[in-house]
Amino acid sequence: PQRPPIPPPLAPIVKDIEACRLCPLAATRKNAVPGQGALQPDIMFVGEGPGADEDAQGLAFVGRAGQLLTKMIAAMGYTREQVFIGNIVKCRPPGNRVPEPNEMACCLPYLKRQIAIIRPKLIVCLGATAARGLVQETIPIGKARGSWREFEGIPVMLTFHPAYLLRDGSKKREAWADLKAVLARLGKKLPAAG
Ligand code: URA
Repeated sequence: PQRPPIPPPLAPIVKDIEACRLCPLAATRKNAVPGQGALQPDIMFVGEGPGADEDAQGLAFVGRAGQLLTKMIAAMGYTREQVFIGNIVKCRPPGNRVPEPNEMACCLPYLKRQIAIIRPKLIVCLGATAARGLVQETIPIGKARGSWREFEGIPVMLTFHPAYLLRDGSKKREAWADLKAVLARLGKKLPAAG
């Protein structure tokens, strides 16, 4: 994907994220990855953190997992531009390790500011790190997936991370059930299979 325009209300947050030195991830990033997409979307997707492709481009979910996420979004009847796609941490953890609690804590205020301005109807947490970071989930994602939480009054669905679905395709069925539950909660019909 090419670089989409930044909605003006989000510009100050993007600027703060790009200048951020609060945690050690700042030292090793090529680009901060604030996330991108629409204001007041039906859905905001929250992942774990940038990988190598995202770090190189400054855009969220543009690598292999991102390509699967794009397909999942399309199957739901949306385009990437119609939703918001972001992460718990905005800078790549070296070697794609899981972000440290301190790194997540430093970065969470940015996500909170984003959510307050973006005002999605609903949030989808992709994977255990997103669930832990946004709604302090302690149940393993294999058990917690498919269930609803809440963040500041916004319904939150927990599901698998697309990178996990790439490793274990047998989990795609459950992930799709979770996304169908999201559509039902939004009062949307399933688009015709394509
Ligand atoms: N995985 C994530 O969690 N986020 C990205 O942006 C890319 C891969």
